Amino acid sequence: MTSTDSSLMMVVYGTRPEAIKCAPIIHALRGSVGLRCCVVLTGQHPDMVQPIHDGFGIREDENLDIFSHGQSLAQIAGKTMTRLTPVLRQHGPAAVLVQGDTTSALAAGLAAFYEGVPVVHIEAGLRTESITSPFPEEGNRRLLSHIATLHLAATAGNRDNLLREGIAQSNIFVTGNPVIDALHLAVATPGPVKDPVVADLVSSDRTLVLVTSHRRESWGEPMRDIAQALRRLALQEVETTFIFPLHANPVVRDYYVPVLADVANVALVEPLEYFDLAKLMARVKIVLTDSGGIQEEAPALGKPVLVLRQDTERPEGVVAGTAELVGHDPDLIVRRATELLHDPAEWSRMAHAVNPYGDGHAAQLTIAALRTWLASGATVEGLTS
Ligand code: UD1
Ligand code: UDP
Repeated sequence: MTSTDSSLMMVVYGTRPEAIKCAPIIHALRGSVGLRCCVVLTGQHPDMVQPIHDGFGIREDENLDIFSHGQSLAQIAGKTMTRLTPVLRQHGPAAVLVQGDTTSALAAGLAAFYEGVPVVHIEAGLRTESITSPFPEEGNRRLLSHIATLHLAATAGNRDNLLREGIAQSNIFVTGNPVIDALHLAVATPGPVKDPVVADLVSSDRTLVLVTSHRRESWGEPMRDIAQALRRLALQEVETTFIFPLHANPVVRDYYVPVLADVANVALVEPLEYFDLAKLMARVKIVLTDSGGIQEEAPALGKPVLVLRQDTERPEGVVAGTAELVGHDPDLIVRRATELLHDPAEWSRMAHAVNPYGDGHAAQLTIAALRTWLASGATVEGLTS
């Protein structure tokens, strides 16, 4: 094993949301004095991460290339751990930074922990009441909290969740969520929407609704219900176009394509490049989603969000009044969407821009937290729980 490089921060990630949220931090690390950055892709989402790298001008230093279609969670975890270990030994980072709650994040964190490398957890402290909702993310993030040494919480509520689990206050920094840094950059970057279908719709005068759905715990009855709700809503709201960038996962497509493909005012499109998605989100009237990241972005843009889930680890948007849980009950989804589309008072009640997830400075606050923590002699022994 090489000796530890006390300035080297290794950022490891594999999926679309991690890439978006790590991008501002990678830029900040690369622009910082005294810290260096090594980007390692697990390869969990090769198709959806590459456009994000292109958009943000990032190139990975290492790629673990773990992807295969339909692989199990255990395969993702196993390949990530075995392939990351020699990379850790080769580079000798002072810390490994992982983001959120994916299997890439947990497996990379565990591989680092086994090698005695301190783990820095970005977006730490999100919680629901059930370890199976969302699945497997709630389990992944709870486990990560107890092997991480430094916890970067997006909100004070996330910090409090960690304190309740016995994490030492001195190891937690509240930074905001770097997704807001990324969103500010994307919305401010000039240039047309690249996807031709979405570009036409964005420049039309039609009312637009953004829809996304992918969560594993919704596979089965919940997704069938959501698909029927969207069909009913679209057939009822002929003046509105529902833009639904489908997740790359074929399992998800099998629920939605057969039910929605023949509905004229539903645009089923491929996953959008992040800058396109941000511009679309800024233009739509409302958002229907089960996405974690979109629940954070929409409030910052003042867009009402109907959350297609039973519970959320992001209660801040609900408390702020811009997000509402509607689960998968078709009647409730159709009723609430109809009210928001037709009742200006109801729409205004939810549509106000708030930033419960940060003000766009999370990357700089992350660098400051890393410096403080490194100066205090960061080691895995700092773990207190
Ligand atoms: C993963 C994360 C989830 C996160 C989501 C973001 C885990 C367990 N789940 O879920 O927390 O919310 O990403 O999108 O880590 N596929 C491709 N190309 C890609 C990406 C995926 O073809 O670039 C297809 C493959 O067939 C793959 C399937 O989608 O097997 C599922 O991908 P996977 O990463 O296993 O799970 P997600 O549901 O995407
Ligand atoms: N996103 C994107 N293109 C799309 C759909 C989503 O760039 O077609 C972005 C979205 O803006 C958010 C992130 O992807 O920043 C969320 O990813 P996803 O919903 O896949 O995962 P989650 O956040 O639920 O883990």
